[in-house]
This record gives sequence, C-alpha cells and structure tokens, in this order.
Amino acid sequence: MKKDTQIVRGGLNNKRNAGVVNTPVVRASTVIFDSVAAMHEADDRALKQREKVLYYGRRGTPTHWTLQEAVTTLAGGADTVLAPSGLAACTFAILGAVKAGDHILVTDSVYGPTRNFCTGFLKSFGVETTFYDPLIGAGVAGLLKPNTTLVFCESPGSMTFEVQDIPAIAAAAHKHGAKVAVDNTWASPVFCQPLALGADLSIEAGTKYIVGHSDALIGTITGTAEAIVGVQKAAGAIGSAVSPDDAYLATRGLRTLGVRLARHQENALKVARWLQSRPEVGRVLYPALPDDPGHALWKRDFSGASGLLGVVFKKTSEAAVAALVDGLELFPLGYSWGGFESLVALASPSGGRTAKPWTAPEPGIRLHIGLEDPDDLIADLDKGLSRFQMTL
Ligand SMILES: Cc1ncc(COP(=O)(O)O)c(C=O)c1O
Repeated sequence: MKKDTQIVRGGLNNKRNAGVVNTPVVRASTVIFDSVAAMHEADDRALKQREKVLYYGRRGTPTHWTLQEAVTTLAGGADTVLAPSGLAACTFAILGAVKAGDHILVTDSVYGPTRNFCTGFLKSFGVETTFYDPLIGAGVAGLLKPNTTLVFCESPGSMTFEVQDIPAIAAAAHKHGAKVAVDNTWASPVFCQPLALGADLSIEAGTKYIVGHSDALIGTITGTAEAIVGVQKAAGAIGSAVSPDDAYLATRGLRTLGVRLARHQENALKVARWLQSRPEVGRVLYPALPDDPGHALWKRDFSGASGLLGVVFKKTSEAAVAALVDGLELFPLGYSWGGFESLVALASPSGGRTAKPWTAPEPGIRLHIGLEDPDDLIADLDKGLSRFQMTL
C-alpha cells in the first residue's frame, strides 16, 4: 500500500470497534476475567505471547492498539511501543539497548533533553556516552568500542538540521553488533522510514506532527522484531502508561498527516526561499533547499521535508532577535513544533555541542512553518526583519 493509504487505513479495525470507524477512547485500569482459567489464558497471551488483548490498563486498550498498529504500518516495523512523551520515547529506546558497563554513541546534534539524559541519569547507572559528529557516516566505525551497544541518531537534527548517513552508520554499527536508533521526528514516518535504511529503532515525538494540533504529548518507538523486545521490557519495567485520550488524539491527528505534511512542505519551501533572498540571512537550515549541505542525502533517503527550519543571521544580537520575535503576529514564541500553526523559537545550539563545534553567529531563530497562507507569514517576517535590521 502507498503511504497515503497506510495513513488512512493503518490500524483501522471496525470489527474490534463494534462497527465505528475511529476506535473510541477506552479507559481502563482493572479488566475483569470470567474465571481463573480465563485469567491464566490472559496472562499467557498478554505477558508471554505479547498479544494485544485486554489485560490491565497500563498494558494498553484498543485505543492504544489502533495507534500502535497505524504507526507500525507507516514505519515498516514489527511493533510499536507508546511512550508518554517524545523524550520518553528517546529514553526508552536507549534503556532498551543498554545495561551497566555499556557504551553508547550519540549524535552531537541530538535534542538537548536526550543529551542531558545521557550525560546525567544514564551516566549515574554506569552507561558511558560519546557524542559524535553528525556527519561522521561510515567513520562511526572508528568510535565503536567493544562495549558499544547503541548508536543514537537524530536526522536531521531539530536545531542544526544536519542530515545523517543512516545506511552507512547502520552498516558499521551492525558489523560491530551494536543497534541503531533514529529520532525521526522531523520527517515523521511519512517522509522517512529509518528501518528501511537499516536502523533497528525509529522514534517519533508524536507530540509534533502525528498529534499535529499542539494539544497532547506522546512518543512512539517502532522496531524490528529483535530490537523492539528490549524497548518493551524497559517501558514495562518502568511502569510507563499512555493516556488513552492522548492515544486517541494521536490517531485522530495521524489520519490527516499526509495532507498536512504536504502543505507544511509547500509553505516551508516558499518561506525558506524568500528568507534566502534576504540580506540579513546568512543561511537557511532546511535540507530540501538544493544548496543545503545535507541535500544529497535528504534526496536519497527522504520523500519530503516538513515545516521546521533554522535561520542563521550574517550578523546578530540578542536585542535584534528580540525585536524581530517580539513583534511577530503569526509566529508565537514557544517550545515544540509540528502543530498546524506557525511558531518561532530562539536558536543558540553551540552551547550543547561537544564533538563538532557549532560556529554560526548566535542567536538565530527556528521557525515552524504552519498551515497559514505563506504570503501572510512572509509579510510578518518581512516586518520582523526590518525591526531586526533597525535594532542591530
Ligand atoms: C527531535 C525531538 N525529539 C524529541 C522531542 C521530545 O518530544 P516531547 O516534547 O514530546 O517530549 C522533541 C521536542 O521538542 C524534539 O524536537
């Protein structure tokens, strides 16, 4: 099935839902068993066979299964674990692949809180992290140690937008017996399928494009049959549970992911090209642009680009960026991205880098290009850049 069909049909199961199209919100803690034999059978099916049967609320209800099946179909994996946030999806993926004494490799372009998890919490449990140049490709082989069990990628990085060579990294890691996890949030499983590129785990902060409406937090980890087992165990042991209401919102958002992303891409490309024409702008960080350093890899491995891009100014100052941002009418200032609306964030990524310094002038800005008319967005940014220029 083609992507648009998968987006609409994945996980749809009208028989399971007594005929209704969308699986309703099934809230549960306790599930009642008819007999001791029925309880034992449920023990076996839920715990040993890992079948999706009603067992206990924390282990999921039909609302969760619908989302899991839809994401599994899109990402092309064996199964999907849900997490209560995108960050939890990143940490569960890591926890599922390590034990005390292990070593992991993490891209220097990784989302800040994922970095902090590795350098803080994970370190205190005896797991060592080495950060690597996101453009290292096959060279990652030189950093693999006998105890390296995981290479964590984020492509493109959600602040600096380097595109990683996942097939080359996966080939090197697998030769060594290490697994590969990719934070695929920028592309979503619609525009990139890391598992088909050789990764073992594909992570989405579903909070962004899957939910798509800035009103719920959720994460997903889809894996190969072998790799997902560790993640299921980690999430289960921790006691993770995802609200069925949020799972419902995520599935509801997912059904329009294809059309939303197509429009995000169209609008973002228009805004990106306009930004490139501006004298204040040094670089627009957006792999779909032909002169972006990651363009060739993006073209090889992705089928589209989402709405998130970075802007590096030729010359900048805190005051000039504040003047730009504070007066914007269509780009509210806030964390996250991937909703239907445009958004702006400040970007000073250099402080989070340890393997490959980020040397562009700071602060820059990061824009999420929403579904508004791009001409209105450009007009708003045009006024903002005039304020920037006057304040610089
Ligand atoms: C690339 C990336 N991964 C993970 C996350 C974390 O997602 P959440 O906010 O749902 O924890 C974010 C959030 O900004 C992100 O940008």
